[in-house]
This record gives sequence, structure tokens and C-alpha cells, in this order.
Amino acid sequence: MESSDGVPGEKAGGAAPGTDVLLSVKSMHASYGPIRALRNCSFEVRAGETVAVVGANGAGKSTLMRALSGVVPIASGEVVFDGVRINGRMPHELVAQGLVHIPEGRGTLRHMSVWENLRLAWDMSSNMRPGKRTFDSLLEEAFQRFPRLRERHAQAAGNLSGGEQQMLALARALLSRPRLLLIDEPSLGLSPLLAREAFAVLSEFRADGVTILVVEQNVRAALSLADRGYVLRSGEFVVSGTSQELLHHPEILSQYLGIKHQGSADQVRMRKFTTSFPLKWGG
Ligand SMILES: Nc1ncnc2c1ncn2[C@@H]1O[C@H](COP(=O)(O)OP(=O)(O)OP(=O)(O)O)[C@@H](O)[C@H]1O
Ligand SMILES: [Mg+2]
Repeated sequence: MESSDGVPGEKAGGAAPGTDVLLSVKSMHASYGPIRALRNCSFEVRAGETVAVVGANGAGKSTLMRALSGVVPIASGEVVFDGVRINGRMPHELVAQGLVHIPEGRGTLRHMSVWENLRLAWDMSSNMRPGKRTFDSLLEEAFQRFPRLRERHAQAAGNLSGGEQQMLALARALLSRPRLLLIDEPSLGLSPLLAREAFAVLSEFRADGVTILVVEQNVRAALSLADRGYVLRSGEFVVSGTSQELLHHPEILSQYLGIKHQGSADQVRMRKFTTSFPLKWGG
């Protein structure tokens, strides 16, 4: 486990030699006008890895996702995706290259039908990445994973329940054929049951070889899915380690995230979440 406390600019974790780095971020800064939301963020995601970024409210998790997907400008630093510098690229260009962002709040187009949302996801990604899979075969796969969406295919996305909207967001990601999936708070607003389902779908994506960067306030759920994790505090990475290391050092979570060691209702809830959650632990 590495701590970058007091060591500005130090890389918070790094790729093992000889492995393929899919995303490399060096000294990235991002701001909203005078508000500096990300400072000196450096990290890497290797092909096939699942990496979690955890942090309290306002830590900068969503800003990190927005900066990587071209929604928020990168003030300085360098972001390289699959060997290509992507600073300043537009979100639609990045989707076409396989960098797909499911934003906080799902990002579905509320006035369009479920089918139209899925078709658009396919159209946005298909120009630059022709592949063997057809729209119909991916649509069928999405409907098999999410039978509810087949039933609701003609309904406006805005009329779906929160859980169905999250399913649609994940199905859109499937239709986009991501190489790197950035997903922001997959469990936000969902019941514990639906949150487990969302994480189970992510673990299927992971098993299919999709590289995932997930940000979550549900720290244990995120680390249970991920190989490695980074803790973001006030826009800076302060600690990184394997999920195993972070999960087995609750004092880290307590120090940086305010999660109590024992006995809090929140922790009991998280323990329940993970014990009934058949996913890989650690990396
Ligand atoms: N559109 C915006 N305009 C100005 N400031 C913003 C904007 N969005 C976020 N911020 C600020 O940037 C900082 C980081 O916010 P961000 O939404 O990235 O945090 P977060 O970790 O995703 O929080 P949460 O857990 O609540 O989703 C916060 O101080 C926030 O107030
Ligand atoms: Mg957020």
C-alpha cells in the first residue's frame, strides 16, 4: 500500500513492468472556474484490470470521470488512452475509441425510448470500431441480461424506475462495446438488492475482459469488485493499494473516509452487502 500524503505529485500506485497500460494519467488538474477540483492526479489502469476510486462527498470522484471522458476540460497534465494522448478530445470521439462513461445519474436520454437509447449507444461507438458483433446480436445479449428492458423497449427512458434506468445505463455500455468503462456510483439510489445486481453485471463485464474504472461511495462494494483502489480526498489521491490491502486496513478507510471501525449501522450494512456478494476479493 502506498500513501502519497505529503509527497505532491508522487504516483499513487503503478503498473507492474511488462503489462499493458490502457489508461495513464499524469499530474492531471481540473477546475470549475476558481474551484480546483482535481490536483496532481497520477495513476494507471492496466488492460483487464478493475480499479476503484473511493472518496467522500465532494472529493472529486465525478470530476475525475468527467475529465477522463472529455466532459470537463483538463487544465494541465496528460491523459493517454491506449497509447494516444486524449487531452482535449470530445466525449463522442472518446466513445468511438472505446472509452465509455456512465455518469452519476445514469446519463440515459429521458425522452427517447429504451430501444432508441440502445441504438444511439451502438451508433456512437460503431463508426470507428467496426467489429463482428451486429447491433441485433448485442441487443439480444442486452435483453437476455436485462429481460425487463425487453418488456419496456418502447417506453420512454424517463419513465423507468431507478433500478431499470441503471439497467439501461449498463445495457447502453454493453452496446457501446467499451474497452474502458468509467462508471460513476453504480449503486446510487438503488435498493441493496438492485445494487448487488448492478455490481454483479459489472463483474460479468469484467469477466468478459472489459477494463473498468469505478467510483463509489460504497467503499466495500467497490473494493470487492476491484483489483486495486485509490482513495481520493479533496481532489488528491492520498492512498492506493490492492483491494485486499485497503479492505484489511480499516484504519485507512476510517482515516480518509470517516468509516468507523466497528459497530456503525453503515458498516454493518456494508458487511452484509459484501458477505452475500459472490465476487472476487482483492487483486
Ligand atoms: N459543475 C460544477 N461547478 C462548480 N463546482 C463543482 C461542479 N461540480 C462539482 N463541483 C465541485 O467540485 C468538487 C468535486 O465535486 P465532485 O462532484 O467531483 O465530487 P464527488 O466526489 O463526485 O462527490 P459525490 O460523492 O457527492 O458525488 C466539489 O467541491 C464540488 O462542489
Ligand atoms: Mg460524484
